[in-house]
Amino acid sequence: MSKQKLVIFDTTLRDGEQSPGASMTKDEKVRIAKMLEKMRVDVIEAGFAIASEGDFKAVKAVADVVKDSTVCSLARAVDADIDRAGEALKGANSSRIHTFIATSPIHMKYKLQMEPEKVLERAIRSVKRARQYTDNVEFSLEDGSRSEFDFMCRITEAAINAGAQTINVPDTVGYGEPEEYGAMFKRLIENVPNSDKAIFSTHCHNDLGLAVANSLAAVMNGVRQVECTINGLGERAGNAALEEIVMAVRTRRDVFPVETNIVTEHIVGTSRLVSGITGFPVQPNKAIVGANAFAHESGIHQDGVLKHRETYEIMKAEDVGWNTNKIVLGKHSGRAAVKARFEELNITFDTQEQLNQVFERFKALADKKHEIFDEDLQRLVSEATEQVTETYGLAYLNVASRTGEVPQAEITLNVKGNELVASATGSGPVDAAYKAIETIVKSRTDLLLYSVNAITKGTESQGEVTVRLEFEGHIVNGVGSDTDIVVASVKAYLNALNLLEAGASRSHPQHGV
Ligand code: KIV
Ligand code: ZN
Repeated sequence: MSKQKLVIFDTTLRDGEQSPGASMTKDEKVRIAKMLEKMRVDVIEAGFAIASEGDFKAVKAVADVVKDSTVCSLARAVDADIDRAGEALKGANSSRIHTFIATSPIHMKYKLQMEPEKVLERAIRSVKRARQYTDNVEFSLEDGSRSEFDFMCRITEAAINAGAQTINVPDTVGYGEPEEYGAMFKRLIENVPNSDKAIFSTHCHNDLGLAVANSLAAVMNGVRQVECTINGLGERAGNAALEEIVMAVRTRRDVFPVETNIVTEHIVGTSRLVSGITGFPVQPNKAIVGANAFAHESGIHQDGVLKHRETYEIMKAEDVGWNTNKIVLGKHSGRAAVKARFEELNITFDTQEQLNQVFERFKALADKKHEIFDEDLQRLVSEATEQVTETYGLAYLNVASRTGEVPQAEITLNVKGNELVASATGSGPVDAAYKAIETIVKSRTDLLLYSVNAITKGTESQGEVTVRLEFEGHIVNGVGSDTDIVVASVKAYLNALNLLEAGASRSHPQHGV
């Protein structure tokens, strides 16, 4: 079967970042973008340039460094959004503006409070305006899967005539069902007279757990671009997972008439990078990138795999990047070796000072931990390059936890240059430490999530703790790591408090026009 190209459009840095608490700094976005480029993702949606100054700078930074992938910014169908996106993308080798407006009756009536004719007018105007910045323009019919077919045909035809080369019909609310969603694309492509002038695209949310199935149904019905995210990160239940789409198409090449450019060996590394940066752990049974995805527990399976791998394995673990984790460095490794390994991981430092800082942290970790893995290095960089101003710093921690006794914690925090001391008891050492912190900070936050994960294997591993805090509707994820999980927990809590204190708020693309 001759294969057509399936464009992989990654929106981890935009829709993925819309998960409450998943916000990323500019440097973190650049690190992920470089990894996506190495993986040969076709289009990287780097952000929503008008959302905040931080988003603008992140889109610009990604546009300035990425050379082999197209860099894209989201923009509502509003002049100011499009101009901001165009401005942020100026330095890109290849850029795309992705403009959208809602087309379903419910969104037009209640959210936009606009008549369909006005929506149509806006779509045309915004595509034309985007074309003044780049000849690569994508138009999305937000809530497309719940839109009226005749209106979709009209707006699609008009957007293509105005200069859009990609037409995306998202299942914004995750309501679609594979057969129906796939058939909708077939009908749309058949009924829009100029459909041959555009690539049709799918963008599915996972509210019913159908995002990947819906995306693949769309592919079977003529769609040639899939919008997806690493680990399925995204609003609510997330977006379609890139790794699942790519591996489904590759493993079932007998079924799918398409192929992607993705270098699949980078999938696991990218998954870990995204998980480490956002603090969203990957569930062990997650397809492709979960820790158990290739683990055969039952005797019958193990026996079968040993005799002939394909009895139970449909993919090779090494094809997606498992088992490539090398023990790279340790206590005796010098600065040059550390720098070289960072370069292999696509991490470079702008100044000698930055490298020195990370190297200091590396040495401190190597004193506590025998073998330093790639994941440890990624975490070190995240910590060292975090741009959050430290309002609360950990100066000293003493926890006592014995069987039959109430755990206690004594803590000294550095608060804007002053050392403040507190102690508390709790149901466990972490609870006691958090209570001691709260005696000082009195944050009035709600703890939405506390999770601990081992960064690498073995009891010597660093524990990575994620803490999600909410204050007056503003949600942040704090991440902390250490070989001592109570210290990691305290670092994560303080990181979340510092993020709240920094208070950078972003506007949300789906709110208003
Ligand atoms: O889910 C959605 O509809 C979106 C659009 C902005 C493409 O994310
Ligand atoms: Zn979306």
